[in-house]
Amino acid sequence: MNCISQVDRPDSTLFNGDCVEVIAGLPENSVDYSIFSPPFSSLYTYSNSPRDMGNSRTDAEFFEHFDHLVRELARVIKPGHNVSFHCMQLPTSKERDGYIGLKDFRGDLIKAFQKHGFIYASEVCIWKDPVTAMQRTKALGLLHKTIRSNATMSRQGIADYLVTMRKPGEVMDKVEHDDLPVDEWQRLASPVWMDINPNDTLQFRSAREHDDERHICPLQLDVIRRGIRLWTKPGDVVLTPFLGIGSEAYCAVEMGRKAVGVELKKSYFDQAVKNLDALAAQHDMFATA
Ligand SMILES: C[S@@+](CC[C@H](N)C(=O)[O-])C[C@H]1O[C@@H](n2cnc3c(N)ncnc32)[C@H](O)[C@@H]1O
Repeated sequence: MNCISQVDRPDSTLFNGDCVEVIAGLPENSVDYSIFSPPFSSLYTYSNSPRDMGNSRTDAEFFEHFDHLVRELARVIKPGHNVSFHCMQLPTSKERDGYIGLKDFRGDLIKAFQKHGFIYASEVCIWKDPVTAMQRTKALGLLHKTIRSNATMSRQGIADYLVTMRKPGEVMDKVEHDDLPVDEWQRLASPVWMDINPNDTLQFRSAREHDDERHICPLQLDVIRRGIRLWTKPGDVVLTPFLGIGSEAYCAVEMGRKAVGVELKKSYFDQAVKNLDALAAQHDMFATA
């Protein structure tokens, strides 16, 4: 296994390595839930490593690489348990794709899981402010001047999604929530989450490396907490193949689950370890207060 290093704690195991290789070393049917935000095809490159799934020349190359991960997930997830991935539809560009429009990245990810037998089980749309997106990306379709001058080129903002795929089979250790009141359930069951704060993320600045760093976009903690809340129970193993700076592992540990995470890039991995250290320090402080 090409794992550079590993940090073990009673409540987490974090690997600095390639997720396909690390997960291939995990036992079959050993993971209760997986939640992650994959590289968005070739939209952002995180490092110049050929193992970086964001370092793909084409979408086909990304999905060829991603397929190896889904195969391993299909092996390690327990029957009847879920995998949730965060994604968005991807804007195309005239230079790269020859046209301005959208690619059905969400649909392609769903198909990648269906190919390995997963059931498309659930999804929630996460609202994003089109004004913020317009200010950040200056996308032609979002500009007010486009609606005034060439309206057929205008478009809606692009939402985020949390898509959940279920491994077929009978659940052996059921997740039963006696403590989830009906009003909370109704909020979680909403097909659109309007109340996710885009800035509710772990801090990442110190994870930035010079020229090979392009982008890290930590997943909002509340999105992760809701997935973990719905589909796991305390003590369950929560796996994230794309640990980044540790958001999914952080929420898993905070909620009394056991986190397993893999990150390729050393600077992000180190930041993830620091974020989990900070959480452990907080726990210790409360325990001694
Ligand atoms: C969208 S980011 C994940 C961010 C994470 N959800 C967080 O909140 O910090 C995707 C991550 O996948 C990592 N990555 C790309 N290819 C990988 C691979 N083969 N194995 C492990 N990590 C990989 C990138 O370095 C990047 O940190």
